[in-house]
Amino acid sequence: MNLLRARLEQLGPPAKYRTIVLLTHPSRISVFTPVNLLLLTLALYLIYTRLRPNPSPTPPLHQSSSDQAIVFKTFTPKTLQPFNGTDNARVYLAVNRKVFDVTAGKGFYGPGGPYSNFAGRDASRGLALNSFDEEVLTEVGAPIDSLEDLKEEERVALNGWAEHFEGKYLLVGRLVEEGSEEAKEAEKEE
Ligand code: HEM
Repeated sequence: MNLLRARLEQLGPPAKYRTIVLLTHPSRISVFTPVNLLLLTLALYLIYTRLRPNPSPTPPLHQSSSDQAIVFKTFTPKTLQPFNGTDNARVYLAVNRKVFDVTAGKGFYGPGGPYSNFAGRDASRGLALNSFDEEVLTEVGAPIDSLEDLKEEERVALNGWAEHFEGKYLLVGRLVEEGSEEAKEAEKEE
């Protein structure tokens, strides 16, 4: 029996399996095959992209660079006007005395945009009347539009727009009357 086993070991595997044994023998398998190198590179790249620290997002301009807090400001029609997309990079408009940063919608409100008349202005009446006519808006030097004469459906339309702006844009301030106590206080703080 032992003699038989010794003889079989001497002969090795049968001829038809010899090639397979040669190719799959551990000493013949190299870790550095092109496929393995490719997979390794891919794995390293994936690990790198997962672990790489995210670049910190650039703070929007309406945030103070020192404390990153949103600065809620007090505007009068006059101080709001420069945010018309031409004089200032940021575009603001007011709806129901709330000032929104609509810079993201510069295509709408920037120069040449369909609603550029609203930029830097109290857009309330235009939105209520569904009109982008310049004459509908109150002149910058005049008292803020009280909107008291609006019809029910106009009021509903205006409130609908106000909701649209609240949902889409950042509230950056309030619109107050020129020369009012709030305006004076805001001036002192600046
Ligand atoms: C002539 C007919 C009009 C057409 C074809 C039109 C078309 C549009 C379109 C396609 C949008 C974009 C909607 C979106 O992507 O969310 C839009 C948004 C808007 N439209 Fe008009 N519009 C018209 C008249 C008016 C009028 C008369 C006003 C005046 C109040 C107006 C005020 C607005 C406003 C405020 C927005 C929102 C922009 C934003 O999200 O910042 N549109 N309009």
